[in-house]
Amino acid sequence: MSPIPCVTLPDGVGVPALGLGTWMMGEQRRRASHEAAALTQGLDLGMTLIDTAEMYGDGRAEEIVGLAIAGRRDDVFLVSKVYPHHAGRRSAIAACERSLKRLGTDRLDLYLLHWRGSIPLAETIAAFEQLRGDGKIVRWGVSNFDVDDLTLLFALPEGCRCATNQVLYHLGERGIEWTLLPWMRARGMPLMAYSPLGQGALLRRMELAAIASRLGATPAQVALAWLLRQRDLMLIPKAADPAHVAANRAANDVALDAAALAALDAAFPPPAGPSALAMG
Ligand SMILES: NC(=O)c1ccc[n+]([C@@H]2O[C@H](COP(=O)([O-])OP(=O)(O)OC[C@H]3O[C@@H](n4cnc5c(N)ncnc54)[C@H](OP(=O)(O)O)[C@@H]3O)[C@@H](O)[C@H]2O)c1
Repeated sequence: MSPIPCVTLPDGVGVPALGLGTWMMGEQRRRASHEAAALTQGLDLGMTLIDTAEMYGDGRAEEIVGLAIAGRRDDVFLVSKVYPHHAGRRSAIAACERSLKRLGTDRLDLYLLHWRGSIPLAETIAAFEQLRGDGKIVRWGVSNFDVDDLTLLFALPEGCRCATNQVLYHLGERGIEWTLLPWMRARGMPLMAYSPLGQGALLRRMELAAIASRLGATPAQVALAWLLRQRDLMLIPKAADPAHVAANRAANDVALDAAALAALDAAFPPPAGPSALAMG
């Protein structure tokens, strides 16, 4: 297995391009140990970027992550997200402290605003900067921000400290290639792609299955390899099934030749023009 490449954040820190998502984990108590084991397996395979959120399972996904990272916190790049309605000057600090408790750690490597809400961005930045100053988060970023929101953010004092923007991006959802992705690349801000498998629906597309079978790979591996070859994206596929975790790790070794890339472009073209940012 070749090592997972790193993506460099604006502050120079490297993050594995292939990590682990946790949405839908923590929904059923009887599955908790199974889900924690899937995350542990991913960590053992070098997928040391974990994405979670206070929203997932009402905090129970963070507890599952806490089980998986116990005793190995320093080897993990830990991401969580604050609800927009908790993103105020004081409420974001309280929300972060609750997340830290559930995760069993003293700091997050990255704290994201889950999506834009009605609380002024300046207030959220002030809270994030206080958390950073207090060592409770190492850096912060946003999620589900289109170019107009990012432009507003970057116009605010300290707004350009934003480390990443986590958005929906996969073969079947390529709208960001028009403006958002080039905008972020021009500013050296790498993108974190969520739902890289289209929440599983992408994997049922016949065209993808045909291309994958020609390459001797699975549809999930081709979907991930197509994103990985862009070199500056962080992917956070979610898999509670250990076989899926192992297969996703192996996507790093799937080479897409010119014929495969052309076939993928033909089967999954980007939209013909700019569109509003899609959300999962
Ligand atoms: N910021 C946001 O607003 C936002 C929104 C959505 C997601 N996210 C983050 O992004 C992560 C990933 O997105 P997602 O959970 O929506 O969807 P996803 O990762 O695109 O797909 C997850 C689904 O694919 C299945 N799967 C995983 N690997 C597979 C494989 N190798 N072969 C076949 N099936 C496979 C999983 O099944 P099993 O679980 O059974 O293995 C699960 O049903 C989330 O978990 C979350 O951390 C963020």
